[in-house]
Amino acid sequence: MILIHLPVFCLCELVSVTTLARHGERTSIIPLGIYTDPQDPQPGHLTELGLQMQYVLGKRIRDHYIKQNFFPEKYNSNNFYIRASPFPRTQQSAQAHVIGYFRDGTGPDNIHTFPIQTDLYEEEWLFTAHDACPRSLENKRLFKESTKYTEFMASLKPDFEEASAYFKTEINESNYHDANDELERKAYRGLITDEAEKKIAKAMNAAKMNTWFHQFDFENNVTVKMVAGILLGELFYENLNRDVSDYQHKTKTSDINAENPNDALRKVRLYLGHDINTWNLLNIFGNRTTHIPDYASSIITELHVENNEPFIQIYYVEEVPIDQSISLEKTWVPITPKGCPAHKCPLGTFQEQYRNYSVYKDKILEWREDICQFKDFLVPLPKTSYKGGPTNVILPLFTILAILFVAVVLITILTCCSKRQRKGGYQTLPDSSE
Ligand SMILES: *[C@@H]1O[C@H](CO)[C@@H](O)[C@H](O)[C@H]1NC(C)=O
Ligand SMILES: *[C@@H]1O[C@H](CO)[C@@H](O)[C@H](O)[C@H]1NC(C)=O
Ligand SMILES: *[C@@H]1O[C@H](CO)[C@@H](O)[C@H](O)[C@H]1NC(C)=O
Ligand SMILES: *[C@@H]1O[C@H](CO)[C@@H](O)[C@H](O)[C@H]1NC(C)=O
Repeated sequence: MILIHLPVFCLCELVSVTTLARHGERTSIIPLGIYTDPQDPQPGHLTELGLQMQYVLGKRIRDHYIKQNFFPEKYNSNNFYIRASPFPRTQQSAQAHVIGYFRDGTGPDNIHTFPIQTDLYEEEWLFTAHDACPRSLENKRLFKESTKYTEFMASLKPDFEEASAYFKTEINESNYHDANDELERKAYRGLITDEAEKKIAKAMNAAKMNTWFHQFDFENNVTVKMVAGILLGELFYENLNRDVSDYQHKTKTSDINAENPNDALRKVRLYLGHDINTWNLLNIFGNRTTHIPDYASSIITELHVENNEPFIQIYYVEEVPIDQSISLEKTWVPITPKGCPAHKCPLGTFQEQYRNYSVYKDKILEWREDICQFKDFLVPLPKTSYKGGPTNVILPLFTILAILFVAVVLITILTCCSKRQRKGGYQTLPDSSE
């Protein structure tokens, strides 16, 4: 509270906190019956565990910042912004997360309802922003017809066959995501112990990684702009610039007074999206993660102002243990985005680095017309070979061939050298006899 009354004397202050989180655990979109629970909700909705993950994540973040008097105990919509993509799983996640913040009757008049901002599917960028481009959807279709894609799918055939036997239903390119979801749920509960089952789980996971997640080239500024431009623009430019200018205005005019709590409060923003959102940002920041981000994984950005200079600090929560006694500091890791000198990154430095990738609200239409014309959004499948079914045979074969090759080369060299040595030996004989 002291901080709120006397911000002018504080040289270093936390100004806003933004959380971008993946939704909590959900059931598979098409249930395949390998892992189900009598409590299971409708397909694609959050499970009991998924709700708990978001509740605990919200509670943990709230407990961390409330200790610093960052925001008041009672909910206030002027300073608490919530956005979720237009799906039940993210909407439910947003609710559970905010209830974690404002539990025990701290909601408006003890009623726990919170406004959640959302857009139409076609306009929403908290999922796959590029789906707004008809051109991009067309590319996706063409990509699926390409030789690269069909060849890759063909290479998965042995895995699909094994999975089909295991699931007792056909697993193919339309439902392997669901197979992966169910196995992930089972694995999360420590219920996968059988080696054959582990192998199938691994293969389904790799299939998803190599088709869904590797469609983007993060070295290509056009691709980056397409997949995350609006998200970057809103979170790291529009919001943060406004926060800095509000903060400077407040400190300059010293118009913070206890009678006007809205003005004195700091800002919390919550974005509930998907694995693709956290995964894209991590990759854009140069953190090339090789696995699908966990349910409720999140990227937390703090904006500070120190001696009138704004800087940001970004943290990543990889997974959310549901033991409520674990603190936020125990579950997050500091991230240093590419281009930042350290974890503590001047806002200007960060913004300079990512400016070319960002799309601003007033430019969205232009962006759609412009960037949506590109034809090569979807890049070829990963250069690294898939280590599932067929490569299991090819890889050892290659290794044996490589060893044989090296052996032959060594033998040749040795034979050649020893011959030369013998030759030399003959030559030196006369010398030594001299
Ligand atoms: C994939 O398998 C399901 C049954 O599990 C079937 O309904 C669907 O038509 C198949 N899709 C393709 C593209 O073969
Ligand atoms: C990437 O993220 C991991 C945590 O997921 C972290 O340990 C690592 O330091 C990060 N690397 C960079 C370059 O930020
Ligand atoms: C942004 O684009 C401009 C011109 O297109 C280029 O000169 C500059 O190096 C780019 N910045 C970064 C950080 O890539
Ligand atoms: C994107 O990258 C290309 C080639 O690397 C470069 O010529 C172009 O200026 C970049 N555009 C922007 C907006 O950064």
